Amino acid sequence: MTYETIRLERRGRVAVVTLDRPKALNALNTALLGELSAALGELGRDEGIGAIVITGSEKAFAAGADIKEMQPLGFADAYLGDFAGGWDQVAATRKPMIAAVAGFALGGGCELAMMCDFIIAADTAKFGQPEITLGVLPGMGGTQRMARSIGKAKTMDLCLTGRMMDAEEAERCGLVARVVPAGDLLETAIAAAEKIAGFSLPATLMVKEAVNRAFETSLAEGLRFERRQFHSTFALDDQSEGMAAFVEKRPAQFRHR
Ligand code: CAA
Repeated sequence: MTYETIRLERRGRVAVVTLDRPKALNALNTALLGELSAALGELGRDEGIGAIVITGSEKAFAAGADIKEMQPLGFADAYLGDFAGGWDQVAATRKPMIAAVAGFALGGGCELAMMCDFIIAADTAKFGQPEITLGVLPGMGGTQRMARSIGKAKTMDLCLTGRMMDAEEAERCGLVARVVPAGDLLETAIAAAEKIAGFSLPATLMVKEAVNRAFETSLAEGLRFERRQFHSTFALDDQSEGMAAFVEKRPAQFRHR
């Protein structure tokens, strides 16, 4: 399938999805959402893909939902059309997904980065939820995912003032996993994705599901869920191979990769 608002590249077992609306700083419009959802669906079905990197340009990961597309909407359009509701499908991607962020990650751009499993940021990255400056609030999970990720104080600060936070502050407060020089961003993210894609795919999916469960349930239920998932890995030939390889002092050759 060919895409107009994104680029999709396969590098071995890693897929790189590049947001590609440079004239609008990769603003997230309905066409881009449709293409990104289609690409993630395609990658989800592709057994040859073990991890996905989502990135943008040097200047912008994405400067938010497309304001020009939203401007004419009334309440009935937004509500009845469930505007922005389609992003839940992106967030529900089962394969591990890394956001490689350079430049602006604002509004929906920051929210898309937070839908990924972790964020690797260039030292040029700037994060923010400036919706308040437009007379609205985040609508793609910003208040919820950010509060769960970095806590109430910074989330309130960012969402209520609309200010931007640089990469160093974002790493300090735990929004991003790593900060790297801008020139190393994509290769660092791809190397991390390759590492993940080299492991057992059922096991990496279970890790993702279990960590995400921590944000949705009580500790007792989360621990039970993790333990049962852990038990179920003993039904995998990849568990036999991984443990045999350790004992035999050789690299593991996982079948479900
Ligand atoms: N939607 C539509 N177009 C956008 C856009 C957006 N979110 N962000 C930037 N653009 C467009 C600009 O309109 C401009 O287009 P023209 O050349 O046709 O005028 C082009 O991209 C370049 O932008 P700027 O000239 O503004 O570039 P800059 O370097 O001076 O400023 C910026 C960069 C600070 C990111 C500024 O563009 C900006 O503030 N953008 C809007 C950020 C924002 O408010 N995001 C939140 C959107 S709402 C949202 O996301 C809701 C949600 O949760 C669902």
